[in-house]
Amino acid sequence: MTELFQGFSKLSRQERYQKLLRAGVLTKEEVDFLDRGGLKDLSLGEKFIENVIGYFQLPLGVATNFRIDGRDVLIPMAVEETSIVAAASKTAKWVRESGFIQTRVDGHEIIGQIQVAKLNKPELFSKKILDQSIKLIELANQEVAFGLVKRGGGVTDIQVRLLDRPDGFKMGVVHVMANPCDAMGANVINQVCEYLKAPIEEMTNEKVTMCILSNLVTTKVTKAEVVLEKVENDLAEKIQEASLFGELDPYRAATSNKGVLNGIDPILIATGNDWRAVEAGIHAYAARSGAYQSITTWRKEGSRLIGRFEAPIIVGTVGGVTTLHPTAKMALKMLNVESANELSRIIASVGLVQNLGALKALTTVGIIEGHMKLHIKNLTLGAGAEEKEVPYVQKRLEEILAIRKRISLSNAIEVLRELRMQSTPGWVGAASGTLPSAATQSGVTASSVPPAAASAADSESHHV
Ligand code: MEV
Repeated sequence: MTELFQGFSKLSRQERYQKLLRAGVLTKEEVDFLDRGGLKDLSLGEKFIENVIGYFQLPLGVATNFRIDGRDVLIPMAVEETSIVAAASKTAKWVRESGFIQTRVDGHEIIGQIQVAKLNKPELFSKKILDQSIKLIELANQEVAFGLVKRGGGVTDIQVRLLDRPDGFKMGVVHVMANPCDAMGANVINQVCEYLKAPIEEMTNEKVTMCILSNLVTTKVTKAEVVLEKVENDLAEKIQEASLFGELDPYRAATSNKGVLNGIDPILIATGNDWRAVEAGIHAYAARSGAYQSITTWRKEGSRLIGRFEAPIIVGTVGGVTTLHPTAKMALKMLNVESANELSRIIASVGLVQNLGALKALTTVGIIEGHMKLHIKNLTLGAGAEEKEVPYVQKRLEEILAIRKRISLSNAIEVLRELRMQSTPGWVGAASGTLPSAATQSGVTASSVPPAAASAADSESHHV
C-alpha cells in the first residue's frame, strides 16, 4: 500500500486506475465501470427513491497516506469541494511520517425511542416497564430482531426516562437499546419500537404517541486519536489555541466541525451511508455539555501534539444502499473493513486528520493558499479555457495573484481573451494545437467566452 500511495496525486486518471489495478484494489471491470462514469442504470435509482428523473453525480476521489491503527487504508471520498481530498492526503502524510492514529469504539448499542406524550401515572409507568423489561426484550428479539440475535446482536436493554413538560405533566420516553452488529440498524430499531408499542400500552394503560430511533447515540461512541511527535513548539501552540477557540465559541465550533465533516461526509456518501443521520448525531453530541463545542480537541503535551475526536458515527457495512449501490460496494471493498465499527473508526480518523489540516493551514499560511491552485483551475475552466489553453491561463493567473494578492473570474476571462488575441489567424480553439506566439494577430471577441462565465465575472471577485 505504501508503494500505491507514493506519487499518486501526480498521476493521470488512467495511471491511477492502472496503479489501483496492479495493487489489487480494483478489478478491470470496476475500473471500466468507473471510467465510463459509474452508475447509469436508472432502474436502481427507482429502487432508492420516488419520482426519479436521473442521477446527481459527485466526483469520487481517493485520499492516500492514511495509516490507521497500524493498517494502511485507501480512503474513497465522494465530494464536490476542491482541496478536501488533497488536504486529507497531505495531512495524513504528515501524521504517517511523524506520528500515528489510534481508534476505538466504546459501547455497542443504538437507541430507539418510544414516546408517551402525557403520562397519567408516571411512577407506575416506569415501574411497570422496568419490571417487565426482560419480557419486552425477549418479545422484541423473538418477533423482530431475530436476525440480529443470530449474528450476536439484538435488543439488550430497556430504560425509562421521565421528562418535565411545560404544563406540569410528565412525558414518558422508553429507550430500547439494541446491538445492530454490522448494520446501521435504523430499520430494525424502528420496527422493534413499533412492535413494542402494543405490549407497552397494554401493560401500562398509557397511550404511546410515537416511535423512532435516536440519532444521538451516546451509547456507541467512536474515538480517534492523532499523536504527532516532535511538533514545532510554535505550530503546536497555534493549533492548541485554534482548538480552544472551537471549544469556547459556538460560532467557531460550527466552522471547525464543518471542517471535520469535510473528512467524514465524503466517506459516508461513498459507502452509501446515511450522512444526515451521522451529521445530526455529531452535532447533538457536540452540544452535550449544554453549549455547542468543537467535536475535536488538540493539545500540546511536551513536544507532542495530540488530537482527539469523540462522537457517535453509526454506520453500516451491510444492508440498504451499502449493498445495492455498485459504487458504494466498491468503496467498501476498497476500505477493506471487517466491521461497521472499523468503518466508523476510519471515518473518525479522517475527520480528525482533515481538522488538523484545516487548523494547520488556518494558523499558518491561511486557508486561501491551500485552495489557491484549485481555485485558479476552477476560474480557468469557468472562463471557458480549452484544454490546450489551460496551462497558459493558469500560469498567468498565478502571476497576477502574486502581484495583486487577489484574483477573480474577470481576470481569467481577460487572460483568455489576451491569449486568443495572440493566436494565429483562423484560431479555432482546441484545434489550434500549439500555444500561440507572442505576436498579436487576430482578435477573438468576448463572444468566445461563455455567457455564464462572463456574467458571473461581473459580480464575482474572489479574494484568495
Ligand atoms: C472549509 O470547507 C472548512 C474550514 O472552514 C474548516 C475550519 O475552519 O476549521 C477551513
